[in-house]
Amino acid sequence: MTKPSLFGLDSSSRDRLIEMMRRKERPAATPRESADGDTVAFVQAPIPEAHYRVDRHPGLEPLRLQAFAADRFGIASPYFHLHEGVARGTTVIAGREYLNFATYNYLDLTGHEAVGAAAKAAIDRYGTSAAASRVVSGEKPLHRELERAVADLHGTEDAVAFVSGHATNVTTIGLLMGPKDLILYDTLIHNSVVQGALLSRATRIPFAHNDWRAVDRLLTERRHDYERVLVVVEGIYSMDGDFPDLPRFVEIRERHKVYLMVDEAHSMGVMGATGRGIGEHFGVPGNAVDLWMGTLSKSFASCGGYIAGSRALAEFLKFAAPGFLYSVGMAPPVAAAALAAIRLMLAEPERVTRLRDRGRLFLETARRHGLDTGLGQGYSVVPVIVGNSIQAVRLSNRLFERGINVQPIVYPAVEERLARLRFFLSAAHTDEAIETACRVTAEESARLSAG
Ligand SMILES: Cc1ncc(COP(=O)(O)O)c(C=O)c1O
Repeated sequence: MTKPSLFGLDSSSRDRLIEMMRRKERPAATPRESADGDTVAFVQAPIPEAHYRVDRHPGLEPLRLQAFAADRFGIASPYFHLHEGVARGTTVIAGREYLNFATYNYLDLTGHEAVGAAAKAAIDRYGTSAAASRVVSGEKPLHRELERAVADLHGTEDAVAFVSGHATNVTTIGLLMGPKDLILYDTLIHNSVVQGALLSRATRIPFAHNDWRAVDRLLTERRHDYERVLVVVEGIYSMDGDFPDLPRFVEIRERHKVYLMVDEAHSMGVMGATGRGIGEHFGVPGNAVDLWMGTLSKSFASCGGYIAGSRALAEFLKFAAPGFLYSVGMAPPVAAAALAAIRLMLAEPERVTRLRDRGRLFLETARRHGLDTGLGQGYSVVPVIVGNSIQAVRLSNRLFERGINVQPIVYPAVEERLARLRFFLSAAHTDEAIETACRVTAEESARLSAG
């Protein structure tokens, strides 16, 4: 019989425990006693299924609960409708045509013949894939033409195109910022910015929506506690459809010596006399903002994202951003479509004018019908606040039955009391479509409230 030497453990168990302690591991097992009182072995606790079965992952629980609740309340899922053709001002789902307020085809360029033709020509010339990271052998003339066109839109020295808009924010912020830095972002900022900030391990502080004074105060108190500071705002906020007072943020950038980043996903092609975004709207020059971020998936009828800024920034991203360096180059037809869309926007400025006119008309019409449009300013995105998630889903389903496709935005994407329908506007929407959508929304909203 081996004499216990530590808390009743035999020597081999003790040695294992010490080894674990050295490795700073928590023991995954508990000692078991033999019949004569000796500790003989470790009994491995069973590994919970949630730790090795994907179908038992705890992240699935809220989804299952949601599906269960929807089933009990008899609410059909408004998600993953199958669109059978190009989604423009109208769309076809299960053989029925709907008025469509749920896709970001702002300038009606997705489905445009010239954009499709450019993509097809790119396939014929370069194939469907860049087939390598650009840094090694995936670089095509189209990439450079696209980046030049984007840089010219913003009035910057250079630009870099990425294969995904979301990944653009994640990899860029993740690269530029580090543990000694601070990132300040608007409370309503897009998830991709938050993910990038998490990746960077910088200190993250959200500031009240559009509150440049709060940013100024914070920087006055804490700027010197950090090395680099990044302030991030959106051109048009994707859920609320309003925009920041950009010149104030530019002034803060200069006074406090911080980086300023503007995500123009929903403002490029929408704001400014010629659609060049919030910078053009306010007359802010390209070099007054360090990082102009945008997506190619909205006004530009394609897929991907970009950062426009200084030559040094572009070089840094191209040689060091993991989402660029270790990822395939943008597919040639995708780059060609975006480039064709940019050229069309510049050649046909009436598209931008018409989109803005549509946005204004929608806002006025919705208000006339007594709808709560929240912070919406009448641009590419106009919310209709419903006030709770179940009612938002129900209202979306009622509108769907009546031939209108608009998505609900529910908790946790927005606060529960601000659950809403989000209407995306398009240059393709007719006056009649806008009037119908607002009238039917008001009618169904009243019916739902009446129970
Ligand atoms: C503000 C904002 N930034 C970034 C993205 C990500 O862009 P993408 O969908 O092109 O990946 C989105 C997506 O809608 C967005 O709304």
